[in-house]
Amino acid sequence: MRHRLMVPGAVLAALLTAVPASAAEPSPGAPGAGDAYYPAYGNGGYDVSHYDLRLKYQPKSDELSGTATLLAETTQELSRFNLDFALDVSTVHVNGRKASFETSGDHELEVTPAQPIAKGEDFTVVVRYSGVPSEVEVNGLTSWHRTPDGAVAANEPESAWWWYPSNDHPSDKATFDVSIAVPEGYQSLSNGRLVSERESAGWVRTSWRSSKPQATYLATLAVGKFDLTKSTTESGIPVLNAYSKGLGDEDGSARASVERTAEITDWLEGVFGKYPFESVGGYVPDTGKSFALETQTMAFYGNKRFKSGTDVSVVVHEVAHQWYGDSVSVRNWKDIWLNEGFASYASWLWSEEQGEGTAQELAEYAYDSYPAGDEFWKVKPGDPGPENQFHGAVYDRGAMALQALRNKIGDKDFFAILKGWPSERSYGNARLADFEKYAEKVSGESLGKLFDAWLHTASRPSKPALGGVKS
Ligand code: ARG
Ligand code: ZN
Repeated sequence: MRHRLMVPGAVLAALLTAVPASAAEPSPGAPGAGDAYYPAYGNGGYDVSHYDLRLKYQPKSDELSGTATLLAETTQELSRFNLDFALDVSTVHVNGRKASFETSGDHELEVTPAQPIAKGEDFTVVVRYSGVPSEVEVNGLTSWHRTPDGAVAANEPESAWWWYPSNDHPSDKATFDVSIAVPEGYQSLSNGRLVSERESAGWVRTSWRSSKPQATYLATLAVGKFDLTKSTTESGIPVLNAYSKGLGDEDGSARASVERTAEITDWLEGVFGKYPFESVGGYVPDTGKSFALETQTMAFYGNKRFKSGTDVSVVVHEVAHQWYGDSVSVRNWKDIWLNEGFASYASWLWSEEQGEGTAQELAEYAYDSYPAGDEFWKVKPGDPGPENQFHGAVYDRGAMALQALRNKIGDKDFFAILKGWPSERSYGNARLADFEKYAEKVSGESLGKLFDAWLHTASRPSKPALGGVKS
């Protein structure tokens, strides 16, 4: 989907990465979206509006096959363009005509249509493919997790390559239809609403629709055997939660945590404003890992997360991301604080609401637990670098930054900002600097020093910078 704002930096990056050979010659789209942390992720020259994935999966052998249809629009005249994908491709059609293709690098699929596509044109790409995703490693990584009864696709930032071809960068959001056939006795889950379920010849096909713009890493697919619970929030949003049938000891604590989703969503609507999507929920597959992810409308919680007891805080975190991360997405991966700082702070607010410690107390506790010389303070949440994109500092120092902001501008303006930002930027993308400007606008205060100290400096801010409640 087109971003509503094309800021000068992005224009410049687009020019630098895709200078036409001459004004008359169509040129290839850039093999990357221009992300400073991950230059090869995403692509240039086009913008996807919709993914239609029609898949079949055999859990016994981990064989995945299917067809992906992408609806897109060119942003330049294109002689050729790239998709990001790691499985085996058998055919590619562009606008109904067979296109030639090559794989290059670990996750690049280069497509050359029979004829160049003019600038500003809608076009359709159909990719037929198959593979055994768990056998595919890219840079030593696989984001396709096998479970005892199936598999799950979830990771950040890389998750799509193992199950569908895409323009894999959060700046290009699109709607999704995911339809998947699995052997009878198995279930499948994806984002959004279940629109149909059909059985035929020993296979069950379920179709899911995510009808609001969704970043590619937020698309998820799970196959397995699940117990489902259904309800609705006070405000009428359908809730679907799913628990792998094989969960052992952690089953009770998983349910005691994830079953709070509806109540948490209602509470968060009071803090962040109207819930942005058509459904909400979470699923707990038996991945044996504790990794959790804010997959859109259907958060992913690795079962190990609940091995040693309930963890409601992670549920608050992932549901909070539906506003901060999913509806308002990072423009580039260096803007990650816009996701993790706010989701972490939401858990502190929940604690405050539950009478289990105020955000101020939690901020001071976190501050004190890292001595001034600790490596923790060397990571700048405002630009942590790809190696530290998910460092504890992005989360904890990131949340402290919000507590410092709250203390500086007072609760009235602070909570106006928490609610105003996701509504002003809903379904779009934003940069960290956009948020800084927005906070200054709403509060009428100059906040450069505060943001510099908390987000852009590789050392510990002074403790008074955290405290000092202003009424
Ligand atoms: N966004 C996820 C969360 O905060 C965490 C992603 C961590 N990713 C990673 N590659 N370690 O819940
Ligand atoms: Zn998070």
